Amino acid sequence: MRVGMLTSGGDCQSLNATMRGVAKTLYNQRKDVEIIGFIEGYRGLIYEDYRIMKSKDFSGILTNGGTILGTSRQPFKLMRVPDENGLDKVEAMKNTYKKLKLDCLVVLGGNGSQKTTNLLRQEGLNVIGLPKTIDNDLWGTDVTFGFQSAINLATQTIDCIHTTAASHGRVFIVEIMGHKVGWLTLHAGIAGGADIILVPEIPYDINKVAVNKRAKEGKRFSIIAVAEGAISKEQAALSKKEYKKYIATRQYPSISYEIGAKISELTGQEVRVAVPGHMQRGGSPCPYDRVLSTRLGAAAGKMILDGEFGYLVGMKNNHIAKIPLADVAGKLKMIQPDDEMVQEAKLMGISFGD
Ligand code: F6P
Repeated sequence: MRVGMLTSGGDCQSLNATMRGVAKTLYNQRKDVEIIGFIEGYRGLIYEDYRIMKSKDFSGILTNGGTILGTSRQPFKLMRVPDENGLDKVEAMKNTYKKLKLDCLVVLGGNGSQKTTNLLRQEGLNVIGLPKTIDNDLWGTDVTFGFQSAINLATQTIDCIHTTAASHGRVFIVEIMGHKVGWLTLHAGIAGGADIILVPEIPYDINKVAVNKRAKEGKRFSIIAVAEGAISKEQAALSKKEYKKYIATRQYPSISYEIGAKISELTGQEVRVAVPGHMQRGGSPCPYDRVLSTRLGAAAGKMILDGEFGYLVGMKNNHIAKIPLADVAGKLKMIQPDDEMVQEAKLMGISFGD
């Protein structure tokens, strides 16, 4: 049995732990398994760049962040566009799969990557998707691996900022990853005790973000957790083209700096911005992710042995769930403004600036 495996898109802490779960299950259950690891995601599958893996390659990697296979971003929208040498990428991927006589391909990837996995399914390949992303925005699964580890890191950043904010009596903005969705900001914001949480799904009014209320209550500092993709009500009303233009010409490095400048202007308070950036994807997976990855990996391994393909292996109510890739592709799991967590946060005074 020959199984192809690749890690695609932005990395996260728990990719190796997940691959280990798949590989150990396969090696443990069958003697004739050969795993082919594609280098740097779909790039390796397109250009036949791969390694024949050995069982020992998957040992000792449970706690290692990053990916032993490397990764790259190969946008779905360009998959049907020939490369600079006129190569048809989809045909190339199918050829590699056939040439290597693969029985299936396992893709560890997020939203964009799983669209390509689904495309390969439509093209007749046996595929299985595993839900990777610190953003937790994959439709159909309650959780993705990497999310919890990133929450831990983003929360630690807010914790550190809290003490310095309190000492200096400043307003601090912590910018948290997530361009389209705010799950990471919502969770880390609540875990870190942020006073204001701004996420892309709930456009803010800068006058409501102004932190005067806390200052009037005698509180010397405020913490604002802002998602990379947070958006004001005015910006949300722009057309896609106008919004792109505004981003391209914005005088600030990111939305947090823009919000910071506006708050200073409106309140006269001193504002500082902290951006942990890619630190949020780094380091070792937390124990929760190690368990999640091991479970998802083992379940994917079993599905390969049983010949069940065309699914994303996810979690529903703490049970393994097989979600058809056809249902997952192209959908995002976003925060709804009336989500329980948002309502609970609002009940105890956390502002979303809306
Ligand atoms: O999808 C994961 C993620 O970390 C997002 O939260 C973030 O917006 C994006 O990737 C950053 O991408 P890149 O690593 O290409 O800068």
